[in-house]
Amino acid sequence: MEFSTKAASPEKDKSDCIVVGIVEGKKLTPAAKLVDEASGKALTSVLKSGDLGSKAGSTLLLHKLVGVAAGRVLLVSIGKDAKPSRKSFRDALTGALKAVAATKAASASLYLTDTLLADDDGSWALEHAVLIAQELAYQTPRPGQKLDADAGKSLTKVHFAAPNGMSAAAQAAALLRGTAIGNGQDLCRDLGNLPPNICTPTYLAETARELAKTYKLKVTVLEQAQMAKLGMNTLLAVSKGSRQPPKFIVLEYKGGNAKRKPVALVGKGITFDTGGISIKPSAEMDEMKWDMGGAASVLGTMKAVAELKLPLNVVGIIPTCENMPDGQATRPGDIVTSMKGLTVEILNTDAEGRLILCDALTYTERFQPEAVVDIATLTGACVIALGHHASGLFANNDDLAQELLAAGETAQDRAWHMPLWDEYHDSLKSNFADLPNIGGRAGGSITAACFLSRFTESYPWAHLDVAGTAWRSGAAKGSTGRPVGLLTHFLIGRAGHK
Ligand code: BES
Ligand code: MN
Ligand code: ZN
Repeated sequence: MEFSTKAASPEKDKSDCIVVGIVEGKKLTPAAKLVDEASGKALTSVLKSGDLGSKAGSTLLLHKLVGVAAGRVLLVSIGKDAKPSRKSFRDALTGALKAVAATKAASASLYLTDTLLADDDGSWALEHAVLIAQELAYQTPRPGQKLDADAGKSLTKVHFAAPNGMSAAAQAAALLRGTAIGNGQDLCRDLGNLPPNICTPTYLAETARELAKTYKLKVTVLEQAQMAKLGMNTLLAVSKGSRQPPKFIVLEYKGGNAKRKPVALVGKGITFDTGGISIKPSAEMDEMKWDMGGAASVLGTMKAVAELKLPLNVVGIIPTCENMPDGQATRPGDIVTSMKGLTVEILNTDAEGRLILCDALTYTERFQPEAVVDIATLTGACVIALGHHASGLFANNDDLAQELLAAGETAQDRAWHMPLWDEYHDSLKSNFADLPNIGGRAGGSITAACFLSRFTESYPWAHLDVAGTAWRSGAAKGSTGRPVGLLTHFLIGRAGHK
């Protein structure tokens, strides 16, 4: 899909479909007024029928209005305010783009970004308009099957009205930001949605190699023997029951000053989590194919950063393996020595994410990173605490936490700050090792983060628990592409300062 901006008047626009906004299902926005005047008040008269709903995103399609160049005019309600909130704006765009996609129109012009939002941020509006269009156009990969050519995908060109007073350069930058983040999200979604027999650790490593080739990144993939040599025993303890070889992927983007230390993104890459010997119940176990969502978001973000050519250095680190039960698998009660030297009593083999991450976080020290963010579908407890809207954010540094929260707001990919108080650490006591891999049931997402924090003392660190946000269950089952938006905006911010 191609995106551009245009300043043309809607009534003269020759696109297959033009879209204009209506306030509360009845009041005309400036663009709608122009179409109304040109068509001899056709809009005013049709709106009198009351057929357009007042809720943001309700639509009404009109054909062949006299005096209007475009064959289709789509009216879309933008909610109750002439300057819509971000939520109403998103709802209006989603409704409009769905309605356009249901027609055979190949090109569309949306006059919704000219009437600015409540906070007058045209740049935000354009970026999100692109992101919404790209998300709606996303098609899940279907192994062994051709993509459905007839799935209403006639729409290839989308134009957005240029926001008032915005320079051409700023418009282009906003479109690029939307496209790059959208492409990163698409990669993240593809990897998550692929079945676990295809998206294996080896497949993730191949994907990293392809990204490296396309964007001239540096890639290193450590094999099992090299991991063993480095002492990554907690990681290998998880992988032991699987026939799939584990991989440790390091992807380096160098867009900044050679002297500047990188930001590290560390993503959990469990390509399937059965729980191991502490096996999970079978209901919905298929969803554990998304347990590599953190890894997928790191690859997606690296892609977005490379497309944006951000002036900073980023290293993506992905420990990846399967968690399977087997005669060789780790037993509850096994004690292993992590790369850092701390011994861990593995009381529950289903708490495997923290085991692969702790060695990855120790490995990360060698980059002397200016900041580290790990991303993991780490705990079911986080889903209970925050549901599916916010990712759980934990950090050993408040400035870093604030940066990530703000990036989440901008990206509409929000996180919520959770505590890492000393009191919570008390539940991580073992009679036999330096620490156990689980605390009690209470505050499960917090004690998991406390476990990780024992391995991140040497740098500013934050942890995003995306167990509730990386994918959707139910009718719209699939990967969400989160938190690529949050991470990319965080890095855009980092590129701008220091
Ligand atoms: N991958 C799961 C976390 C998860 C569960 C994500 C459900 C999304 C939905 C993780 O490896 C896990 O199994 N965590 C356990 C930890 C427990 C054994 C302390 C959990 O959350 O139940
Ligand atoms: Mn698990
Ligand atoms: Zn897991």
